[in-house]
Amino acid sequence: MSQQIARASLADVQQPVAEELERVALELRRIIAADFPIAAAVNAHLLRMKGKLFRPTLMLLAHQAAGGAEPRAVTLAAVVELIHLATLVHDDSVDHSALRRGLPTINALFSHQIAVIMGDYLYSRAIIELVRLADLEPLRVFARVTNEMTIGEMRQLEAHDKLSYPEAQYDELIRAKTASLLSGACEVGALEAPLAQREALARFGMRLGMAFQIADDLLDYTAAEAVTGKPSGLDLKEHKVTLPLIAALGAMGPADRSLVAELMAAPEPSDELVAGVIERVRAAGGLDYARRRALELAQQAEGELEALPPSRARDALRDSITYAVDRPS
Ligand code: IPE
Ligand code: IPE
Ligand code: MG
Ligand code: MG
Repeated sequence: MSQQIARASLADVQQPVAEELERVALELRRIIAADFPIAAAVNAHLLRMKGKLFRPTLMLLAHQAAGGAEPRAVTLAAVVELIHLATLVHDDSVDHSALRRGLPTINALFSHQIAVIMGDYLYSRAIIELVRLADLEPLRVFARVTNEMTIGEMRQLEAHDKLSYPEAQYDELIRAKTASLLSGACEVGALEAPLAQREALARFGMRLGMAFQIADDLLDYTAAEAVTGKPSGLDLKEHKVTLPLIAALGAMGPADRSLVAELMAAPEPSDELVAGVIERVRAAGGLDYARRRALELAQQAEGELEALPPSRARDALRDSITYAVDRPS
């Protein structure tokens, strides 16, 4: 990827909204504050976990790029990160993940029960905050988006025939579980902008979000746990079918396919089996295919930015595309 587009760092992307992002962290802390001891203990742990703040970054950049300068943008940016956090707490429980952002997950450190309840706690705090703003528009966008995300997570579970999962269904899945929230973040950032800009930013977020999830799925194949802060090879271990495998299966011979079948039939595939399948996926061109697809979506995202007037924030949104497809974690 890097030979086609120049790398952008997260700091480059966040630079125009760096000051607001610091306030987002404080807002987040305020919104989730709890008296009840277990909730307070989970919150304290969650606040120690440092994420990339990619969704608040997109929202604040979209806001700036569309000419906005509203103080409530910081609160809305905290809300979008909180919705993301709530879905991660649930996702890690569903995926049986033990590590997130380099620290133990809520399900690992506390329990699955606590993860379920705290996911709801965080999400309902986000809703309370949106209601407090007394503006139906952001609530409307996020209510729709979070509902789409649940369907995306459900789609993941019902991928029955692991050896012939259609790419079109994968596209639907990543659009719902991931891209919808990035799209919502961009759209809510531009609620006061002319409709053409708002809609272009929503489409931008959708394309970018799909590329972002493909990059995440690639990182599961290629990156070390020490870099991403979450286990690698976990998707295959959990029998999760993502684009590298979907693409590779179309090019694999019978021997490779039966190795994949063996992995999918193993209740707990060994590290060796996972490593074997990763190697066959790479050899069959699955990683290259997924990279090309992420780049295609990235180009589509970039095209949407032409609806915006030139600005530093628009440049940063453009950099966010290269960052999303070529990020280290
Ligand atoms: C992880 O999102 C979940 C996906 C949609 C891939 P991020 O990669 O944005 O995670 P954090 O917030 O930086 O930890
Ligand atoms: C993204 O899916 C999770 C959500 C959109 C909630 P993944 O399951 O791939 O995310 P990671 O890899 O656990 O971060
Ligand atoms: Mg997961
Ligand atoms: Mg993943």
